[in-house]
Amino acid sequence: MSVISAPYTFNEEDLYVDLESILGRRLFLKCEGFNFAGSIKLKPATEMVEAAEQLGVLTPRSVLLESSSGNMGVALSMIAASKGYRFLCVTDSRCNLSTRLVMEALGAQVHVITEPSAHGGFLRARLDYVRALSALDKRYVWLSQYTNPGNWRAHYRRTAPSIARSFPGLDVLFVGAGTTGTLMGCARYFRQWHRPVRIVAVDSVGSVTFGGTPGRRMLPGLGMSVSPPLLDESYVDEAVHVEEADTIRACHHLARRGFLFGGSTGTVVSGAMRWLAAHDSAGLTSVAIAPDLGERYLETVYQANWVQALYGADALHPDDAVAVGAPGSWETEPARLRDADGGRASDTGGGRVNPT
Ligand SMILES: Cc1ncc(COP(=O)(O)O)c(C=O)c1O
Repeated sequence: MSVISAPYTFNEEDLYVDLESILGRRLFLKCEGFNFAGSIKLKPATEMVEAAEQLGVLTPRSVLLESSSGNMGVALSMIAASKGYRFLCVTDSRCNLSTRLVMEALGAQVHVITEPSAHGGFLRARLDYVRALSALDKRYVWLSQYTNPGNWRAHYRRTAPSIARSFPGLDVLFVGAGTTGTLMGCARYFRQWHRPVRIVAVDSVGSVTFGGTPGRRMLPGLGMSVSPPLLDESYVDEAVHVEEADTIRACHHLARRGFLFGGSTGTVVSGAMRWLAAHDSAGLTSVAIAPDLGERYLETVYQANWVQALYGADALHPDDAVAVGAPGSWETEPARLRDADGGRASDTGGGRVNPT
């Protein structure tokens, strides 16, 4: 039995879905959506708030301020409500309506940016707004998840050790890249572990994180329109890029088997499947991280009209694309992968993988 009195103290850390019967390859999906914030962002949010408290930066008069595509905003709304702080979340028009409503229900104020900046997209516009506000009024405490070491440290202290405990023979870890907090915390932990683990970052096509060309991205969570300050590429062995239409197909495929996950989980699963198809993966122990669950994506990822308008009718045929249980179907284009030790690019067969 678990009994709590503060909502941020509960987190299911040890739940994995074995995807072999659904996707035809051995991949364990670590489910991070089972807490009162509904996502993996509970951990960095808690870490950053507690560090600010310990430093004496946060006082009862403070107003927490953060730019978020949604999940960090929900986690901070919950923590702020529980601890008695005010919170202003600056998000943009891609934030799911239900995510925004959750923040407001928890007592947060939400500011939605509707115009992207010419250089740096919505994220730059959000950060400009946050910067201007915090310069104006000293009561604002900007946690800055994009630069705060507490973001990656939460995963170094909690996410990665829990995976290591559950999978002592881990070979490959697939991690989606947004702020890269999860990626960097896990990568730093496993770099120091007693056995080598290949760290594969999964990003959206259109994100500039690993040097890709900026492009349209409609799904919140993964990908950046400016380079993420927390990223140190020397810890990342490979980067896989996934088209949002493939994200949708993977999400729909999992949902038709009863697992309703969030958009970024579809991206990570799609990228992981392609990587596993491109490598001699028999016998490898692989884990992918699922940052949240699907209910906040009902009006986007799981809404046929929305999907069709943005990605075309093809994106609505999950079984064509995921072609589950037919491993060869993931092998689409040649891949350029980085060596684990040096970052040297080399050609390998299969998988749509962009060089970092
Ligand atoms: C749904 C979802 N997936 C993935 C991520 C990426 O995590 P990180 O910021 O640690 O890279 C986020 C971050 O906001 C998210 O909300």
